[in-house]
Amino acid sequence: MKQEQLLELLQELSLEEKIHQMLQLPGAYYEEGAKLTGPMQESGLTEEMLQQAGSVLSIYGAKEITAIQEEYLKHQPHGIPLLFMLDVINGYRTVYPIPLAQGAMFDPALSKELAQMAAKEAAVSGVQVTFSPMVDLVRDARWGRVMESTGEDPYLNSLYARAMVEGYQGEDLAEPYRLAACVKHFAGYGAPTAGRDYNTVELSERTFREYYLPAYQAGVDAGAAMVMTSFNTVNGIPATGNRPLMRGVLREELGFDGVLISDWAAMQELIPHGYCADRREAALRSLEAGVDIDMTTGIYSQQLAELVREGKVEEALLDEAVLRILELKNKLGLFEHPTKDADAEAEKTLQLCDEHRALARKAAEESFVLLKNEGILPLEPGKKVAFIGPYVENPEIHGAWSFMASAEDAVTIKQAAQNWFGAENPLISYHPGAPVLEPGSPLSGLGSQVLPQVTQEETERWLSEAVEAAKAADVVVLALGEHRLQTGEAASRADITLPEVQMRLLERVCDVHSKVAVVLFSGRPLDLRRVVARAEAVLEVWMPGTEGGSAIVNVLTGQVSPQGKLPMSFPYAVGQVPVHYNEYATGRPYSPEVEADRFRSRYLDIPNAPLFPFGFGLGYTTFAVSPVMLDVESISLAALEAGETLTARVSVTNTGRVAGTETVQLYLRDVAASVVRPVKELKGFEKVTLQPGECTTVSFAIGKDALSFETAGGQRRVEPGRFVVFVGTDSTTENAAAFDCR
Ligand code: GLC
Repeated sequence: MKQEQLLELLQELSLEEKIHQMLQLPGAYYEEGAKLTGPMQESGLTEEMLQQAGSVLSIYGAKEITAIQEEYLKHQPHGIPLLFMLDVINGYRTVYPIPLAQGAMFDPALSKELAQMAAKEAAVSGVQVTFSPMVDLVRDARWGRVMESTGEDPYLNSLYARAMVEGYQGEDLAEPYRLAACVKHFAGYGAPTAGRDYNTVELSERTFREYYLPAYQAGVDAGAAMVMTSFNTVNGIPATGNRPLMRGVLREELGFDGVLISDWAAMQELIPHGYCADRREAALRSLEAGVDIDMTTGIYSQQLAELVREGKVEEALLDEAVLRILELKNKLGLFEHPTKDADAEAEKTLQLCDEHRALARKAAEESFVLLKNEGILPLEPGKKVAFIGPYVENPEIHGAWSFMASAEDAVTIKQAAQNWFGAENPLISYHPGAPVLEPGSPLSGLGSQVLPQVTQEETERWLSEAVEAAKAADVVVLALGEHRLQTGEAASRADITLPEVQMRLLERVCDVHSKVAVVLFSGRPLDLRRVVARAEAVLEVWMPGTEGGSAIVNVLTGQVSPQGKLPMSFPYAVGQVPVHYNEYATGRPYSPEVEADRFRSRYLDIPNAPLFPFGFGLGYTTFAVSPVMLDVESISLAALEAGETLTARVSVTNTGRVAGTETVQLYLRDVAASVVRPVKELKGFEKVTLQPGECTTVSFAIGKDALSFETAGGQRRVEPGRFVVFVGTDSTTENAAAFDCR
């Protein structure tokens, strides 16, 4: 449709018809034979709303969506198609690593390919919009939703935000296999007080702008079609009703002109927040803030018509919102093709095809982070290997946001090991060792799943059998981890250690064997002190997705070398949280090597440093990085303004005996400025793959953008003074050189 036709269409709509476009209903209401039930009527929903709601979420399947759209258009007096939205977070049927694991790849380009694949698989199932990417910066491992983020760094998160939006959307949403992307959750949702989901967020304006805003900006700049409001307050006002945040920051400052959707029931939550007295006020505040679509509450549908008729709200505000919704449907080409790419045949051939599985496997291999290895990995051929632990055969390795996938599609460690070593190989054995969680510990979460219960007797028997198997092996691989529903939404944990029943297995196996490699499944950084103290190797595999088992065996056997780097610090203890590399120095910085005096910013009982820092990860080889060479010792503000840069250069050598990939990282520090600056800020990275003995040069151009920040005066610019350039293989590097900006 042309723009003028959209405007004409808008003029034809009655007030009620406009309001219906702003309602999004859960998919359950449209399922076969779904009828208005009591609860729906209690929430004031009517048959007409059901028939004319503008969008629906959480329905998928070419056949289902085609049938619903055809039925819907029979009752739609203006031929406006229904819009189908879904959480396609880390894949559709072919599930790839969770976003936190993608952050560990330090490879946004690969994440773009993954998003393209997900869009293709979801589009043939009729999905048109995905509630992804989640670009919330995270620093608190207690928060279950860190799994959906790409980590603690604004620069890295911004690269991923752009890559994922571009991957989902391509150049033109009307092209086949494109999904409209939704950047979420605006804004600051990743900083809940005490790491407790849905809790209050307390951020200074500077911290918000310096760390949390950049990735949203990157997503908007990449052309994201939609943004979702967050559940939390920002400066004391819940985001969904926060006019300064939405009309001020999001629309005016970031330049977002797409559709703004509330998060699930967030409009209703303005009342328990203590911001709105009732649903009528919630409708008013949300519309004033510029929320276009109400996800599931029906508040707009029940309240807006009266508010307009009473003159409490301008109909022009509705027209603005409805036009954005119609424009989104039009960009997707839905007026001409209401079911877009829905294709039941393509579903069968495209989803889980070998090509997609191979891409998911490649991403998983790149995402794994080798945290420790005292020589037992890769596994030596011909040795007796005992695979022990609840994740040896557990197929639930997709992560908490993968409802469309089936655990049966996943390749477990055991299946992959049997493929590699041979199913009947007498040298290789497999043992559960322990359940994921203590017997009888009920777990309900997003999937409201309760774990299959293992009795205490079975647990004891599994443990004894595993210890005996360990004694007979040359090397043990212990596959441990959180349950997939211990991370994700509403899954905050105050204790971030592995379940005790698994720790008991680890201790007992390590009591009888010194060569133990732990493969760790988690959706968050965990407190790994006891694991690292006992195991000779620790490989973090996150929630690796459909091809997880294959990728793990490929790395364990040395077919692929691990190359992942931590996108989020692993705390020494939960008491350190929130812990992040890009902190401020304080007036009493503490460095254990230099001073032991008490009156420094430190703990009495634990170190300041995390157990494993941002950017850290080992490989099967070693690399040497030369001292940093700068091409100049100083650069003028004028030169920077004119676009000139200075160059930092290192040579990198593979000093080991096998090929490997290293991620060379560039950090900057502005030593003294009008506001304190972080001790380090990631400003670039380059992955290099080198053969044994091979050497290469890595260069970084440093210009105005990398040196600019929001000064005390509020302008984004470079200030004169001394800068330190760090280049190394993780955020603790002290390989540095300095230059002056005058
Ligand atoms: C949830 C989540 C949000 C998700 C939405 C729709 O509550 O906060 O990330 O996209 O509801 O499922």
